[in-house]
Amino acid sequence: MARGLFVTFEGGDGSGKTTVIHELEKRLDKLQISYLHTREPGGSVIAEEIRNIILDRKNTAMDKRTEALLYAASRRQHLVEIVFPALKEGKIVLCDRYLDSSLAYQGYARKIGMDEVYSINLFATENTLPDLTFFLDLPPKEGLLRIAKNKEREVNRLDLEKENFHQAVYEGYQLLLKRYPERIKRIDARKSVDEEVEEIEKILLPRIKQG
Ligand code: TMP
Repeated sequence: MARGLFVTFEGGDGSGKTTVIHELEKRLDKLQISYLHTREPGGSVIAEEIRNIILDRKNTAMDKRTEALLYAASRRQHLVEIVFPALKEGKIVLCDRYLDSSLAYQGYARKIGMDEVYSINLFATENTLPDLTFFLDLPPKEGLLRIAKNKEREVNRLDLEKENFHQAVYEGYQLLLKRYPERIKRIDARKSVDEEVEEIEKILLPRIKQG
């Protein structure tokens, strides 16, 4: 059976994933490489509804395990409806966040434990890991400054967390970089968008050609 390439993008809030993916899309379009761009939490109608519950600023009473389960539920639905069919058709899937976000945010920063969060995600994903992950590395302070400057961005429940939460998320990602050195590639997000995308292309294009 043909199998596409599952590529995910990770980073703290304000690390610029969305902008970088958009720029990458333009380059892939020029090269006439087709892909599917999607995101988590969300990416399908049901998963977007779950996203709204998770990120609603009114839901301040949400328990951290409930939060982890909702992210996993949204992930499951999105995989089944969007990602699995695309991969089966041999497509390249570019996904803005995936499982590593749950490990860094819920597992490490919320202190549930990375292994516990991994275990519910094992159930949700049937052990589906990305083929390749780009981590956009930006010190959390800089990410928060970028968010503050971006007036168009809607502030969600997780954005309201204090700086030490975002610092913990960052530390969680550093652990993941050590745990999955083959899969997760670090991209310096203090560089220009063009430079970041060039680095990503250098790693991604040979993988696409291999496929
Ligand atoms: P976004 O701003 O990249 O769309 O993501 C929404 C927020 O959800 C962001 O603060 C990261 C957070 N998040 C988690 O905490 N766990 C997860 O598993 C995912 C996918 C996102």
